[in-house]
Amino acid sequence: MVSTSLPGGTWTLGDLTVTRFGYGAMQLAGPGVMGPPADREGALAVLREAVDLGITHIDTADAYGPHVTNRLIREALRPYPQDLHVVTKVGANRDEKGGWPPSRDPASLRRAVRDNLENLGLDVLDLVNLRLGDAGGPRPEPVAEAFGALADLQQEGLIRHLGVSNATVAQVAEARTIAPVVCVQNMYNLAHRHDDDLIDKLAADGIAYVPFFPLGGFSPLQSAALSSVAARLDATPMSVALAWLLQRSPNILLIPGTSSVAHLRENVAGAGLALSPEDIDELSAIG
Ligand SMILES: NC(=O)c1ccc[n+]([C@@H]2O[C@H](COP(=O)([O-])OP(=O)(O)OC[C@H]3O[C@@H](n4cnc5c(N)ncnc54)[C@H](OP(=O)(O)O)[C@@H]3O)[C@@H](O)[C@H]2O)c1
Repeated sequence: MVSTSLPGGTWTLGDLTVTRFGYGAMQLAGPGVMGPPADREGALAVLREAVDLGITHIDTADAYGPHVTNRLIREALRPYPQDLHVVTKVGANRDEKGGWPPSRDPASLRRAVRDNLENLGLDVLDLVNLRLGDAGGPRPEPVAEAFGALADLQQEGLIRHLGVSNATVAQVAEARTIAPVVCVQNMYNLAHRHDDDLIDKLAADGIAYVPFFPLGGFSPLQSAALSSVAARLDATPMSVALAWLLQRSPNILLIPGTSSVAHLRENVAGAGLALSPEDIDELSAIG
């Protein structure tokens, strides 16, 4: 039995128990998620602090940098604590302009899984998300060939569990006909609520929903209602946004990103904020 004092407690992804408060490592690469960070020691310190705080779920991708974030994780945290689960994603590459072109043919996916294993310094990846769509959001495309290729790699013992990311409701359903899906990682926060029905359906089916951009991503969440609830509770808008997500549904796992140890500590402390039914109603009206 794994216990935690982190806000939200734990969730089980397949057979892996993780803290619902996790950490998203994308912001550790350089500007535009390309190249090395300006403050390399600072980036390593954030990763070590995440583990010291008791976080057991780190989200990454070999496309961050590319390769930069995974190598930082390896350097900061290997040998990995037994209870730490690094979740990665495949399905997009980087081009010289910093774009994220799709790369989902079976040979590219196999290469991406090998790159993740090597750069993270692992023999098996705990959880791999198939990243669909593009930077503009989910797109209606078939997933059978790509998700089937990952299911083959899972059968070969290179991956423990599978998920999908940036996916439509139909793609989630299609993937589930091919292999078990333990999580869906899509864009969702107080102001972007397209997945409300999907979250409830996944919760009923015991599948995690992992919102990316929980704090608004590259453009921090801004809303008069959020500021007003935060002021009333004497809390920061970031704390309120994270606490709202944790209280929105038990299958929501947080992976807020930061390149700052101080912000990481602030976010962990803030996500435990208790919101009243009135606060929640006011915040839920934002989306
Ligand atoms: N599946 C996908 O397609 C996909 C797409 C995007 C992201 N992701 C994943 O989702 C994770 C989270 O997304 P994200 O990191 O882009 O966005 P986010 O978590 O919504 O927001 C991160 C931003 O908020 C700032 N921030 C964090 N805590 C703060 C605080 N207490 N006070 C003030 N500012 C604060 C950070 O700046 P500082 O560094 O200054 O703290 C950073 O600029 C990523 O790390 C990545 O793992 C997945």
